Amino acid sequence: MGFARGHQLNKTPMLEIKRVLVVDGIDDVCVKVLADAGFQVDKKDKITKDEVLATIKDYDALIVRSATKVTKEIIAAGTRLKIIGRAGTGVDNIDTDAATHAGIIVMNTPGGNTLSAAEHTCAMISALARQIPQAHATMKQGKWDRKNFMGVELHGKTIAILGLGRIGREVATRMQAYGMKTIGYDPILPKEAAKAINIDAYDLDELWPLADFITVHTPLTESTRHLLNDAVLAKCKKGVRIVNCARGGIIEEAALLRALESGHVAGAALDVFDEEPPKDIANNKLIQHPNCIVTPHLGASTEEAQAKVALEIGQQIVEATHGSQIMGA
Ligand code: NAD
Ligand code: MLT
Repeated sequence: MGFARGHQLNKTPMLEIKRVLVVDGIDDVCVKVLADAGFQVDKKDKITKDEVLATIKDYDALIVRSATKVTKEIIAAGTRLKIIGRAGTGVDNIDTDAATHAGIIVMNTPGGNTLSAAEHTCAMISALARQIPQAHATMKQGKWDRKNFMGVELHGKTIAILGLGRIGREVATRMQAYGMKTIGYDPILPKEAAKAINIDAYDLDELWPLADFITVHTPLTESTRHLLNDAVLAKCKKGVRIVNCARGGIIEEAALLRALESGHVAGAALDVFDEEPPKDIANNKLIQHPNCIVTPHLGASTEEAQAKVALEIGQQIVEATHGSQIMGA
């Protein structure tokens, strides 16, 4: 269970929840869990900000994935709101300060999509090493081009993992199975604990020049915004390949583009972007760079992950209102 910010309940809570608004195409299992518990649930898969603003006053709980941005205006309009649930890990699309100020609990479901996000990252690493999307695109255009797609083996290469939490560790074990050397950095994980999962932990300045691949798995915070920038990329090996399936903004997009254009970075794989959806995708130089492969924030988009996060957020709301204990994450 995840508690993002704000209230933390240790005793039987007395939240009175009658009506729940579920948006963003969350799996139906969430509605079933809530309806079985006696709540009145409205599911609106596609909803505009104005529609949320106009109707939120009628609901005690709101459950979102990523599309709906729960702004301070929505929170102010939600005069009955007691819980905002995020069917996923990050709560970046929720103004947690405004929610805390209004006494609203924010819950997330860290863990429900960990494996899917890790598998997507590993798929991106493999695709990056062998230029699979680019080769696929040429065959779809009727070409048989075997000369332009010389790849690199993952076996024997070093991958640096920044952020050794749930997803970072799952990525590590999978890439170890490819024969990669896993190194990493996480400010809260002792080096011995990293060693126990076969990751050699380094301080950041030591780590950059060692990596053939770098993958980031941190939240986006003030300390991780532009963690990879011009100065850092200059410290990396020429030919390094960079992956971001965590949050847009951890890698400075303009710096990454410059490094791809100069050839210092051999390739990048991005699932997440500064702005989502990015403006003018067809003319975005980073997205359109031939050595940059991209997916539209698909890390958690599997049937299994969406079923898990939907079930978990539904159960958490039932528990919060039916007397189970909720502990802080
Ligand atoms: P987690 O909380 O389990 O792990 C994050 C780790 O980052 C923690 O161990 C933390 O100590 C570490 N960290 C914090 N600041 C750091 C810094 N400055 N340098 C290095 N490490 C730092 O989170 P998680 O569940 O593994 O998720 C990781 C990221 O993936 C989050 O940003 C999450 O929102 C994102 N995510 C994306 C998708 C997707 O669809 N692409 C899906 C799920 C999660
Ligand atoms: C998350 O934080 O869980 C992810 O961004 C996945 C998502 O819901 O798309």
